[in-house]
Amino acid sequence: MRNTLAETGAFFPRDRSWHPKAFTPDYKTSVLRSPQKALLSLSNTVSEIAGPVFGHDMLGEMDDDLIYNYAKPGESAIGERIIVHGRVLDERGRGVSGALVEFWQANAAGRYRHKKETYLAPLDPNFGGCGRTITDDDGYYAFRTIKPGPYPWPNGVNDWRPAHIHFSIFGHGFAQRLITQMYFEGDPLISICPIVNTISDPEAISRLTAPLDMNNTIPMDSRAFKFDIVLRGRRSTMFENRKEGN
Ligand SMILES: [Fe+2]
Repeated sequence: MRNTLAETGAFFPRDRSWHPKAFTPDYKTSVLRSPQKALLSLSNTVSEIAGPVFGHDMLGEMDDDLIYNYAKPGESAIGERIIVHGRVLDERGRGVSGALVEFWQANAAGRYRHKKETYLAPLDPNFGGCGRTITDDDGYYAFRTIKPGPYPWPNGVNDWRPAHIHFSIFGHGFAQRLITQMYFEGDPLISICPIVNTISDPEAISRLTAPLDMNNTIPMDSRAFKFDIVLRGRRSTMFENRKEGN
């Protein structure tokens, strides 16, 4: 029988050798926004440990379907139809249930629906570019969308973002919040992206790159990509109470 008791302990500290450094000059905007002073380490507060909690009743019927959630009746977003799915896990490999997973992305041509967007690629009148879902009891999530296009951005002289989907995940506490990006297996822009290259460990980059998942592809409809997400875990009660020598 699965243990469904909620854990309430504090979270593991973030592994700062795994995550990118805050100051990474090749990614220009990191220069002004990175801390100028040494960080202080604080214990988790109760509000960081205990919340937030989300219910499925907050979700709209089409929130997990970007092909249709902004489209006019009878129409759909233009692009390569894909399913993105996976599990939200903690550092001990346990599925994180009830996690709010939010995602946003450019359209098939690489353009965002945003008033500050300046890329000349066209908007798709049937594509909004954002959605959300909540993980099930095993930490599983899935949504349907179109594959985003790559886009140029003002950083170096000629920098292009690989195709990517932005993710925000709220787990069982604010201290577990993660904002990240998913890339697509085989994209030649990944290895030359200044943002990707703020990550020093190649294994960490590969964890952000979703492989093509033919087992979950729907024939004559959509390809699938698998993307598992690992959040900071809780220190287990058993571990904290373990007697020396056991
Ligand atoms: Fe982006």
